[in-house]
Amino acid sequence: MDKRVELTDADLAEPLTYTVEAFLSPEYAIAERELLWAKVWQMAGRVEELPDVGDYMTYNVAEESVIIVRVAPDRLKAYYNVCPHRGRQLVNTPDNSNGVYGKKKNFVCAFHGWTYNLEGKNTHVLDPQDWKGALTEERTCLSELKVDTWGGWIYINMDPESGSLREFLEPAASVLDPFQFEKMRFKWRQWSVYPCNWKTAIEAFMEPYHVAGTHSQLLKYGQFYAYSKPYGLHGVSGFDERDPSMKMSQSGSVTRAGLGDPRISTYELARENYETVNYAASTETLVNAARRLADELPEGTPAADVIKHWMASAKADDAARGVTWPEITPEQMSEAGLAWSFFPNQTVLQGVTFALCYRVRPYGDDPNQCIFESYALERFPEGEEPKTEWVNAEPTAEKWGLVLSQDFANMEWVQKGMKSRGFRGTLPNPHQEQKITNFHRHLARYMGKDSIRLLDEK
Ligand code: FES
Ligand SMILES: [Fe+2]
Repeated sequence: MDKRVELTDADLAEPLTYTVEAFLSPEYAIAERELLWAKVWQMAGRVEELPDVGDYMTYNVAEESVIIVRVAPDRLKAYYNVCPHRGRQLVNTPDNSNGVYGKKKNFVCAFHGWTYNLEGKNTHVLDPQDWKGALTEERTCLSELKVDTWGGWIYINMDPESGSLREFLEPAASVLDPFQFEKMRFKWRQWSVYPCNWKTAIEAFMEPYHVAGTHSQLLKYGQFYAYSKPYGLHGVSGFDERDPSMKMSQSGSVTRAGLGDPRISTYELARENYETVNYAASTETLVNAARRLADELPEGTPAADVIKHWMASAKADDAARGVTWPEITPEQMSEAGLAWSFFPNQTVLQGVTFALCYRVRPYGDDPNQCIFESYALERFPEGEEPKTEWVNAEPTAEKWGLVLSQDFANMEWVQKGMKSRGFRGTLPNPHQEQKITNFHRHLARYMGKDSIRLLDEK
């Protein structure tokens, strides 16, 4: 392996650069099929999407299609979406669909009627004697791949030699376990085919360095200077509480007090986060509890006490409507930071009772298009979980809220800009964009490339 991809965590704090090949090259996009997508654990859906035995969904990535099915109340299985006879997809799943959902006792191939039970075993072949005994169970069953769950997400892995999901997600999974994402449910979920590479898209959500330039309406609440650091393959960003300008932060933007009277600014920031990030980066309970701060607390209450009171009253409000908060210590809260990127393409911005999440996948083999998704998770009172489906939504402020539309307004122009022969390669921020350089370091390893290097290295 080239020494240039053997960057250490400490190297990520140095000025680095990487090439644009990963974003633009059609050959690279095709190579990702084998070297990346066929090797990694990747998030394919949520457990809540398959509540009953026989419920199935398809997941497409980079020309591959997979069926995930609930075979027992406590067991999922995953199969390649192909009939072993002559290769018809068992469940038609066009690239421009965002998964196909249904319920079945058997999968019957529409071409010649070969049939498979939920366990993937072939239960019917027309005229099997024509094969003169060659059709063994192994030859006619569906091809299985690994499936596992964490935090209520379903992950698949196509590599029979891979380690466990838990190994892959560590050390991030242990830091985030206290949030119990498995107790959250979809609040809404949207997707769009978007004109940029999947990495251009996911990187737009990996760093808060762009807040000042892109979401300048948020600057009235204070600075957004953020740390960004690797956790194995994954990475986190957040606000450094040792930084005096960040004194009021407790767990990232969602619980910051902002500038001025903290009773007022806490409410204003919570409301702004809620309303302009499509009702995802906070909850109604938190916003309502913040609205009462000016009535419930005397003028001059220090910011830290305002936050404490806010959290306690929101927790009590939630308890009264049947939503229990997980026990998370202040140390766990602080280590968890604000926003996580799971290698390669999953992003989670967590709060105590909610999460705003993104996933981006390649669109077939086209390096200039991707399937972009965003969804909100939240804890609901039992029985009051909303029924949601994937909604195909144009990338506009009307459909996604102001903040996401501002991010969309960069992504396709980054994709175009990187094609310029005048571009000398990226200059990621060594402090605030380490999640991105960590991503490129690991991507380069999977792809066998030396595309990332120290800036002063020839
Ligand atoms: S391809 Fe499926 S039965 Fe022939
Ligand atoms: Fe953004």
